Amino acid sequence: MSIVRLEHLTKTFGGRTAAVDDVSLSIDDGEFLVLVGPSGCGKSTILRMIAGLEEVTSGDVLIDGEPVTAWPPKQRDIAMVFQNYALYPHMTVQENMAFALKLRHVPAPQLTTQVADTAHLLGLSELLDRKPKALSGGQRQRVAMGRALVRKPRVFLLDEPLSNLDAKLRVSMRAELARLHQRYRITTVYVTHDQVEAMTLGDRIAVLDQGRLQQVGSPEELYLAPANRFVAGFMGSPSMNFATVRLRGGERVTAALDGLELEIPDAARRYPGLAEHLGSAVVLGLRPAALSLAGPGDPAVIEVVPLGVEALGDEKHVLFEAPRDGSRDEQRQTGVVPVAVEDTSGTRLWTAKVTQQADLAIGRPVRLAIDVSKAYFFDATSGQAIAQVGPDAATGAGAPGPRTADAGLAV
Ligand SMILES: Nc1ncnc2c1ncn2[C@@H]1O[C@H](COP(=O)(O)OP(=O)(O)O)[C@@H](O)[C@H]1O
Ligand SMILES: [Mg+2]
Repeated sequence: MSIVRLEHLTKTFGGRTAAVDDVSLSIDDGEFLVLVGPSGCGKSTILRMIAGLEEVTSGDVLIDGEPVTAWPPKQRDIAMVFQNYALYPHMTVQENMAFALKLRHVPAPQLTTQVADTAHLLGLSELLDRKPKALSGGQRQRVAMGRALVRKPRVFLLDEPLSNLDAKLRVSMRAELARLHQRYRITTVYVTHDQVEAMTLGDRIAVLDQGRLQQVGSPEELYLAPANRFVAGFMGSPSMNFATVRLRGGERVTAALDGLELEIPDAARRYPGLAEHLGSAVVLGLRPAALSLAGPGDPAVIEVVPLGVEALGDEKHVLFEAPRDGSRDEQRQTGVVPVAVEDTSGTRLWTAKVTQQADLAIGRPVRLAIDVSKAYFFDATSGQAIAQVGPDAATGAGAPGPRTADAGLAV
């Protein structure tokens, strides 16, 4: 039984801005928590502080309620797997896996059994006599995990363990990791910059940006009800599209976009938070799947010129210049720009996810329908999500945010 608790964990390297800034988080016994965020946001530093490999500047790490912040790494009984595997090159797989047990003076017969069991579970039984240089990337990764798991640590930490593997192997190793976790149920913190990995592996996901915790929740919660614009843009692929829009209305609420007045259906009930923003600018967020090829009766249609068309088999992604917002002045005032992506030429791009059958060509105008019922809204200044409830909340279903057709959660 191991509950890991981080209390106001902070790390500053040499007087610069905090690499990890006041992070408080509790990881349940047996939970698989994924810590996700862009490169440099402080993920590895947090793991290293949990492991005791990095001193904390302030705050505490607790395991089962006991502060271990001052304990040396060895005493914490934590195992960590690194991105580069860090196997001992001169040792065989058997020796690599047995190393930590030897250090702990585990008797030889028990050591042999434990290594054999773990090797079997990881499909390494045939490779025990090989040295790391005679293994493939995937096999090395398995040895690194086997070495960490063999001694049944209280806490298991993994730092981007799959990032050196090719795409196909990454997918199968993801499944393997999930299976290992089912079997051992060791409290795990898994670090990745890859939101797909986070969505598929995590019981819960903690999103980090610039050293600060942005939101903690289940994959569904983060996808359907992002707490702010950063989380909304980070989770989901392709990214959410954003634009600054001016809200108008009372009875009917509309958002001005590209010369359109988009009516927000059932606004008063679905977005209770919008009321205080009427007459001012907010950021509209639309996932690529909220845009589709327009049919004759569609109420909210924009005409766009595809700058890129990516055929992905089941679907196509259309890239086009972001629609202009209703008021450029507002944009200048708030400093919020209507962007999802910026390519090298500085063009602001939006993406629509349409069916594979869609007949599209670069440069040929196409009409896209906006499903306004799938819109998200964010405060133009703070980026915080504006309160909303699911479309069927009245029936008691209580979805945390708009229901999206792409229930596959963007993976
Ligand atoms: N030993 C160090 N000395 C100085 N700065 C560091 C050190 N380790 C990490 N940093 C800085 O702290 C920030 C967070 O780094 P890191 O935790 O490695 O991020 P991530 O793992 O999310 O990519 C980065 O800005 C990085 O440059
Ligand atoms: Mg890192």
